[in-house]
Amino acid sequence: MTSFSAEWLALREPADHRARDQALQNNICEQLETVARTEQRAVRLIDLGCGSGSNLRALALRLPAQQHWTLVDYDPLLLAAARAALIGWADQVVSDNAILTLRKSTKTIEVEFAQVDLARDIERVLAWPADVITAAAFFDLVAEPWLVRFCKALRVTLYTVLTYDGNEQWLPAHHADASMLKAFHAHQKTDKGFGVAAGPDASAIMKRELAARGFQVTLAPSPWKIDQAEAAFMRALATGSAAAVRETGLLSTQEVEQWLAARVSAQHCSIGHWDILATPAQ
Ligand SMILES: C[S@@+](CC[C@H](N)C(=O)[O-])C[C@H]1O[C@@H](n2cnc3c(N)ncnc32)[C@H](O)[C@@H]1O
Repeated sequence: MTSFSAEWLALREPADHRARDQALQNNICEQLETVARTEQRAVRLIDLGCGSGSNLRALALRLPAQQHWTLVDYDPLLLAAARAALIGWADQVVSDNAILTLRKSTKTIEVEFAQVDLARDIERVLAWPADVITAAAFFDLVAEPWLVRFCKALRVTLYTVLTYDGNEQWLPAHHADASMLKAFHAHQKTDKGFGVAAGPDASAIMKRELAARGFQVTLAPSPWKIDQAEAAFMRALATGSAAAVRETGLLSTQEVEQWLAARVSAQHCSIGHWDILATPAQ
């Protein structure tokens, strides 16, 4: 199992929320406003690979007043971290049973937690009632055959953010940047539990597969822009990249260590992602 620590997810959360493309986010919020107005019910979202619940925290205040979220992950520790983080984030906990009901500002948010291995059971999850399937920083982990399965089974709007696109720029430049990035891309394509990961190719595969099934697909860039105001995040990011490159064995230990020593104090870095909104044909 590829594990992501709650500490890492918390460090990246501000950059994740800033990076999201605003036009796509506004579009999905408007779609869900229409559902709430015409059907007079809570809007339903399923968040794939929810981690500690960052995607809900990014979106909930922009969505209609009544919301029902199902947070899906295979990691029980992250699901517990999500419950705790959401309770800490809310203004009020209305009830904390199988369904956690929260109030935040003018919103009433019901949250269910589902421990599911999405590599195996994606079709079962996509059959649950939902207006939108959403995910953040998830789709670069999965493999092309899994993406084809996913796109075949998808029946509702998909809104996914922060799929790694392979572009990185660190300033000031370092002589090992290009070889480190090449090795990092090789690591991106290792198996993360779904078969050989699509990594930076994931968004193009999704676009192709969803368009072929009649979805209207829009991609928008959502790069992280990080500087030393987020020194701890920059350090964690560089350390994580170096660890991934070490696993590939493609660069010498010395090269990786020299790059890392320079990168923990980089002035700026930009890491590319795509956000995708895909709406099914009516
Ligand atoms: C990069 S993290 C993103 C977490 C969260 N969406 C966020 O934006 O902070 C990827 C998430 O996918 C989950 N994940 C990875 N493989 C999975 C699988 N096979 N089934 C369910 N969840 C999985 C991980 O546990 C992790 O929470």
